[in-house]
Amino acid sequence: MWTVAILTLLSLSTSLRFVQAAPTEPSPQLQQQNSDSMRVSKSLLCGTLAASSIHTCAIAQATGSTKLYVSSYAGTITSLDLSKTAGGYSLKSVAVNTGSAPSTTWIEKDPTKSIIYVLDEGFTSPNGSFAAYTTSASGALTQINRLMTLGGPVSSVLYNGGKSIAVAHYGGSALSTYSVLPSGGLAPGENFIFTLSKPGFNPGRQEAPHPHEALLDPTGSFIVVPDLGADLVRIFSIDASTGKLTAQTPFAVTPGSGPRHGAFVGGATAIKGCNKAKTECLAEAKANAKPTFFFLISELSNTITSYKVTYGSGNAKTMSFEKVFESGTYGNQTTPVGAAAAEAIVSPDQKFLLTSSRNATIISIPNFDTANSTQIPSDTLQSWSICPDTGKLEFKQLAPAGGSFPRQFSMNKAGNLAAVGLQRSSRVVIVERNVADGTFGKIVANITVEGEVTAVVWDE
Ligand SMILES: *[C@@H]1O[C@H](CO)[C@@H](O)[C@H](O)[C@H]1NC(C)=O
Ligand SMILES: *[C@@H]1O[C@H](CO)[C@@H](O)[C@H](O)[C@H]1NC(C)=O
Ligand SMILES: *[C@@H]1O[C@H](CO)[C@@H](O)[C@H](O)[C@H]1NC(C)=O
Ligand SMILES: *[C@@H]1O[C@H](CO)[C@@H](O)[C@H](O)[C@H]1NC(C)=O
Ligand SMILES: *[C@@H]1O[C@H](CO)[C@@H](O)[C@H](O)[C@H]1NC(C)=O
Repeated sequence: MWTVAILTLLSLSTSLRFVQAAPTEPSPQLQQQNSDSMRVSKSLLCGTLAASSIHTCAIAQATGSTKLYVSSYAGTITSLDLSKTAGGYSLKSVAVNTGSAPSTTWIEKDPTKSIIYVLDEGFTSPNGSFAAYTTSASGALTQINRLMTLGGPVSSVLYNGGKSIAVAHYGGSALSTYSVLPSGGLAPGENFIFTLSKPGFNPGRQEAPHPHEALLDPTGSFIVVPDLGADLVRIFSIDASTGKLTAQTPFAVTPGSGPRHGAFVGGATAIKGCNKAKTECLAEAKANAKPTFFFLISELSNTITSYKVTYGSGNAKTMSFEKVFESGTYGNQTTPVGAAAAEAIVSPDQKFLLTSSRNATIISIPNFDTANSTQIPSDTLQSWSICPDTGKLEFKQLAPAGGSFPRQFSMNKAGNLAAVGLQRSSRVVIVERNVADGTFGKIVANITVEGEVTAVVWDE
């Protein structure tokens, strides 16, 4: 955790509500959005400020240190310590755990507990594994339990207020669910296995369904799964009393596009610090609701697509998608040959979409070995500003990712630092980011991590 030394609040409106405790028990995703809902709105992308912008700005100046956890196909979970020094940042490895070997592929931090959930793709067997660990101030991890799963798990998401967790299986063509025990450990839930009647448009990559990510929608009522092999966005409604899922009609995307990852903005945003009755807080959140948009990054077509999301009225558990915008991943540049789009995340203030692309090292950056003057090739990150009313994106920047294959990256809560996992460079870099204009800045720290880096997450 960052030790917040100075917390300055600049109120641009007369009423300012900001207390530490969250009033209701929203989904982890909602909480993440809530925690950052109080930033100044200066984006003029849509010509005018959105009427619903909260004109409040929180500037947190962090000192001390924070932990990050890195997964690698070397079979390791490495705990990193990032600390701010007088001259910049220092990034050190403080612990290495091999409890999710051999093919450690994804890490999810429970934002409300000192627990991480870690997937192992299990390349050497028909099954993968899923394990829970408690974290500690030293960075050492203690395994709570580990379960065998269907094959090839690659992404997980907590849902139902942290009581359940859904896993997308790329290799196993499936979605599975787990319940979270009081200990933080995992218990098996449901398995949904998908099939294709014939190979897709790109038979080399679409010979079978390949769910690539599990996401929770902003209402906390649906799990959404981009399926790279089937060119579908699969939709499951959540039964909040049991955590069980019901498959709804999936949404078909462009044949051959290969949807990989996605991110939502908008929806009802619980008022941080609302200390009224739960129903009143929820009503306030609804009144504050913004249109919901879904951004999809597709690996095979190298495109970013925005969809307006509409929910069925009444008790109908439906979710529909209407395309409102599409662009090549490289914005105003031609997509380079070989490019493979990867990650898409929304900035904590919901104003920017941040994406990564692999296998196109079109930028050269200074060598991380300061004694070596030969520049090294780098793939790219992209920054886009989001129009909150239309869901359209404006391309802002193509920035160096810090090396080869930025498969996954994540932001800190303040939104001023990104941690990038560089699979083919066996490296993690920390990149500065300008919260106001959304652009990436300098690489401020870097570390070599053995093997192919698959994910890096923050513990704040
Ligand atoms: C392990 O993989 C096999 C083959 O796909 C599958 O039938 C079985 O259910 C898996 N085991 C678990 C615990 O998921
Ligand atoms: C990387 O690009 C090359 C062509 O430049 C292509 O042959 C190769 O399949 C690509 N690799 C991946 C993993 O996309
Ligand atoms: C300097 O860096 C380049 C690019 O990474 C590398 O090919 C070369 O081997 C390095 N030279 C030395 C002496 O380490
Ligand atoms: C592409 O967009 C970026 C970001 O807006 C801008 O800096 C750059 O000049 C543009 N390049 C071209 C060729 O239009
Ligand atoms: C990369 O890390 C090395 C070792 O900590 C450090 O000397 C160097 O300045 C760092 N470079 C960047 C750009 O972060």
